[in-house]
Amino acid sequence: MTPIEEAFFDKATWTVSYVVYDRPGGTCAVVDSVLDYDPKSGRTRTASADRLIDFVRDKDLKVEWLLETHAHADHLSAAHYLRKKVGGKIAIGAAIADVQNVFKGIFNLEPAFRPDGSQFDHLLQDGESFAIGQLRAEAMSVPGHTPACMAYKVGDAVFVGDTLFMPDVGTARCDFPGGDSRKLYRSIRKLLELPPQTRLFMCHDYPPQGREATWETTVAAQRAGNIHVHDGVSEEEFVAMRTRRDATLEMPTLILPSVQINIRAGELPPQEGNGLSYLKIPINAI
Ligand SMILES: [Fe+2]
Repeated sequence: MTPIEEAFFDKATWTVSYVVYDRPGGTCAVVDSVLDYDPKSGRTRTASADRLIDFVRDKDLKVEWLLETHAHADHLSAAHYLRKKVGGKIAIGAAIADVQNVFKGIFNLEPAFRPDGSQFDHLLQDGESFAIGQLRAEAMSVPGHTPACMAYKVGDAVFVGDTLFMPDVGTARCDFPGGDSRKLYRSIRKLLELPPQTRLFMCHDYPPQGREATWETTVAAQRAGNIHVHDGVSEEEFVAMRTRRDATLEMPTLILPSVQINIRAGELPPQEGNGLSYLKIPINAI
């Protein structure tokens, strides 16, 4: 059965969220939802997540999964909010525990925060298959950008997370804690071994001037034209390019808030005595 995908592009963070479903009136998974966050005021909003909810209700879909490709560093996940509103199980790669361990240290999180993935409803293993209604899906471990990155293959479509970007943009950075460009190269080659007509859905688009944001491509198009990893680029060449390029990139605006929320599956940190939640800024640590 061929999946149906609906994409939602968030201009504020260049993130693409997806609803992938078997049929109207059927079952869906939501991939990489966005909780809007204004760093100036510390306020969250749910306009982006509510667009997903409207779509799901309009198509009369049962939400089975709320999938995260990884603990994002550029936007907050709306998975926790969505689960409350429309249900679904929040799932992420099992290696999230490694990511939680690193950031529990950096943010000196409360002792009750357990870096074991228990904040999520389900931890996916490499190669694990699962159902989205009548669709068959499979988790593919694609570490490199982070140690816990997963791509999700649903029928002939793959939601690639932060691995590949559109061919004219290239690939994801590897300089966050636990990132590894050698691993990313191997993960990308694994994706590019899929049949050439496989449809690939990006997690982000950073369109060069003069073109509109877009997010769907194919294995064949990536192998022919990705500026960083087209066929013929060796692992050594890729690692050298990625290392050079990552050294020039600024941290994403929302990395500190994003990571603190996303390792909690989108839930805010525990309220303090006055009923408010707080985010921390570690000084000279990232
Ligand atoms: Fe990311």
